[in-house]
Amino acid sequence: MTRSSASGKIILFGEHAVVYGRPALAVPVTQVHVDVDVSDSSRPGIWIEAPDVNLYAELNTLPSDHPVASVLHNFLFLSRVSPFPSLEIKITSTIPVASGLGSGAAVTVALTRALAAHLDHSMPDEEVNAFTYEIEKLHHGTPSGIDNTVITYAKPVYFVKDQSVEMFKVGQAFTLVIADTGISAPTKESVGDVRRLWMNDRARWESVFDRIGDISLTARRAIEAGKPELLGELMNENHALLQTLTVSSPELDGLVQAARTAGAPGAKLSGGGRGGNMIALVEPEMAETVSLALQEAGARSTIITQISCNGLRRYCRIWQ
Ligand code: MEV
Repeated sequence: MTRSSASGKIILFGEHAVVYGRPALAVPVTQVHVDVDVSDSSRPGIWIEAPDVNLYAELNTLPSDHPVASVLHNFLFLSRVSPFPSLEIKITSTIPVASGLGSGAAVTVALTRALAAHLDHSMPDEEVNAFTYEIEKLHHGTPSGIDNTVITYAKPVYFVKDQSVEMFKVGQAFTLVIADTGISAPTKESVGDVRRLWMNDRARWESVFDRIGDISLTARRAIEAGKPELLGELMNENHALLQTLTVSSPELDGLVQAARTAGAPGAKLSGGGRGGNMIALVEPEMAETVSLALQEAGARSTIITQISCNGLRRYCRIWQ
């Protein structure tokens, strides 16, 4: 049996504007992950078991645009392994679907790596990343590529579409609370709606994207300089700009407000928006208080994450 895992992610700054070439910052979230086991099968075919989404099927019975089937068909084509062996594939995930935590990209990365390892098909990170981006494009329309990049490399990234991916240093540790609205919201829809806004008034939205890009750059400098106290205001401004882009929701706004009222100096939605997750910057000693306030305001679950100079140390609180 061969196992591979991939973590979730959050976007700190710059979602949506990143689709239009502005920089964005993202970090992996290791408390949530996808695990894939691949083993040889005694029955003919490629059998998929994904209990979290109630999927038990042989590959050829799935529509070809099914997210798991599209990974498998494209991997078969790319790897040219022939004849393809019979396999049992088990996929389990603790990343909520369509919540802004990168569940789709994490499934693709973990499944691709497990298949490549099991079938002795060499696949360096750059290839896994490029392959996952192609799969993301099939399902999300015009993704920037930030989700597949941060999940493939499992490191904090400063990302500019089609230009550069830089790992950034954290000058001083800071703490975030991530809270899930429990509402699933496909990224494709919010990205499509932003595109329609942009098509109708490019000048207006380009200036909003410019400002979001400036915020991402300023945030990166503050993080590198060890001044995380500057991030709160930047988060609040970034959230307000995302509201003008119509990708927030009453539930996200409610959680953002609850976090600020409970003492977070800054909070914003994270990812595609309309549902999914928000993040709040907190002093470490306020993390539990803000986390509880978010739970009382209706959060389905929260994660307390410390982003530190020595890598990312995290611990987790989940309410169901
Ligand atoms: C989704 O995690 C982030 C978006 O900016 C879309 C993308 O970058 O592909 C909303």
